[in-house]
Amino acid sequence: VKVSFIGGTGPEGKGLAYRLGLAGYDVIIGSRDAERAAEIARQVSEHAGKTVRGEENAVAASGAEIVVITVPFDAQAATLPPLRDAVAGKIVVSAAVPLSFEGGRPSMPPVPEGSAAEQAQALLPNARVAAAFQNLGAAKLWRNNDPLDQDIIVCSDDADAKQEVMALAAGINGARAVNGGLLAASRYVEGITVLLIGINRQYKATTGIRIAGLP
Ligand SMILES: NC(=O)c1ccc[n+]([C@@H]2O[C@H](COP(=O)([O-])OP(=O)(O)OC[C@H]3O[C@@H](n4cnc5c(N)ncnc54)[C@H](OP(=O)(O)O)[C@@H]3O)[C@@H](O)[C@H]2O)c1
Repeated sequence: VKVSFIGGTGPEGKGLAYRLGLAGYDVIIGSRDAERAAEIARQVSEHAGKTVRGEENAVAASGAEIVVITVPFDAQAATLPPLRDAVAGKIVVSAAVPLSFEGGRPSMPPVPEGSAAEQAQALLPNARVAAAFQNLGAAKLWRNNDPLDQDIIVCSDDADAKQEVMALAAGINGARAVNGGLLAASRYVEGITVLLIGINRQYKATTGIRIAGLP
């Protein structure tokens, strides 16, 4: 299965590309700039010990079965509509977190659609959107392939897409995929990241989440 990253040149896309590359997926790094995509793909290839391609975002979206959105939330409204045809019928994974900093404190601006993932679904009506990876800090993903020891909550209105993304998430070393329900629940998952950023500052750590009590 080929997995591409729209805005894959940032720390989150790069870290996920590294981990999913190691998990056996064919990975494509997308960017607005083909040269930047090629340079980051070279870095991921070197780190993962396998060939990763870099392409412009539109080519990356066309070339993969699963397309992960790793642009900043504010960039979604301009970035996603041109990809509509390229992702029609495909699984699109939203990793974005709406975030603003006031006086240095992180907070979550209101999103009319409910969440970044629901906005992605509204912008890409023919895609099968799932939300995942919002709670995974980029630094830990990229450093090495140590087990993450974290849960990845996956939300979607498309049951088959959710299962596929749960399988993708579970491929990351030391990650457990958790069914988070419908896409509307993604707003809570996105909110947890804002909490984690505050906790990270208090403890000078890179934290994640584990759900207790699952069978
Ligand atoms: N960083 C984390 O630890 C973390 C953790 C959980 C979730 N996330 C979420 O994952 C996403 C990516 O995070 P990140 O830290 O990697 O973000 P980032 O570095 O700020 O941006 C990622 C990439 O998006 C593209 N981009 C930036 N501004 C854009 C614009 N105005 N229009 C189109 N493309 C633009 C850039 O790629 P090109 O310039 O190459 O096109 C950039 O390299 C965000 O939505 C974030 O909320 C991040």
